[in-house]
Amino acid sequence: MCKSPSPSSDLPPDLGAALARIRERAPFVPELAIVLGSGLGALAACPEAAAGFHLDFTELGFPAQTVPGHTGRLIFCELEGRRVVLQAGRFHGYEGHPMALVTGSMRLYGRLGVRAVVHTNAAGAVNAGFRVGQLMVLTDHINLMGGNPLTGPNLEPGPRFPDMTAAYDPDLRRQLHGAAAALGQTLQEGVYVAVPGPSFETPAEIRAFRVLGADAVGMSTVPEVIVARQEGLRVAAISCLCNMAAGMLPQPLSHLEVLEAGAAAAGAFEALIRAFLKNLVL
Ligand code: HPA
Repeated sequence: MCKSPSPSSDLPPDLGAALARIRERAPFVPELAIVLGSGLGALAACPEAAAGFHLDFTELGFPAQTVPGHTGRLIFCELEGRRVVLQAGRFHGYEGHPMALVTGSMRLYGRLGVRAVVHTNAAGAVNAGFRVGQLMVLTDHINLMGGNPLTGPNLEPGPRFPDMTAAYDPDLRRQLHGAAAALGQTLQEGVYVAVPGPSFETPAEIRAFRVLGADAVGMSTVPEVIVARQEGLRVAAISCLCNMAAGMLPQPLSHLEVLEAGAAAAGAFEALIRAFLKNLVL
């Protein structure tokens, strides 16, 4: 049974019920949440996760995932001696889900007492110096999704106007680079531009994003990061560069290509997360 450091009374009623259910059933309050993005879900099948405590999204009152064969769930387990919750699956705005659902797990982590969240996602490389299959630590984002998840009544106790100056925690980024260096891995870093999707971008949009200062483009993560910061969680985020963005190579983009590149990078991603956890200072 988990003890809560903060009240749940300012959550929408459905999230309040989900939080109560987690507190009742979860074996511990995790230090860290790791959100596993498209193609990066293999970590959820590692032995420690298999032996962990699983809570399906549907048991929390969340809808079933729309991707066939993928059960969205939270997995409470110990990885490299650290208590973590792995979030296998996420909800996207392009599926038609409201922002309160897309970002709901961040509210739950914040109020459970989780201290930090590592987001992962699949992204297209906008920076011509990047290569498919490389990982990129986010230094910052540009929100071109067309909305902000904090629109509407403010959910106390978070601030109405949260600061986003250092949304991607500089110290966690430094620790990720240290883990990559210890492994001899190339770890890029850069700015992620978030678009609503689900169509991929046009080549003209990608050229425009490059002028704006973007290094990678994707359709997720930014709403969750904004809400996580409002909840006071420390945030890190890693993109798997699954394709060169539209117009950069003489070929069309496909979701299959994205999933295959994610699967190919799964080993490197898991090694990076494990090395990061081994020496993590929160
Ligand atoms: N664009 C947007 N989202 C993505 C891409 C892309 O090229 N690759 C993976 N997710």
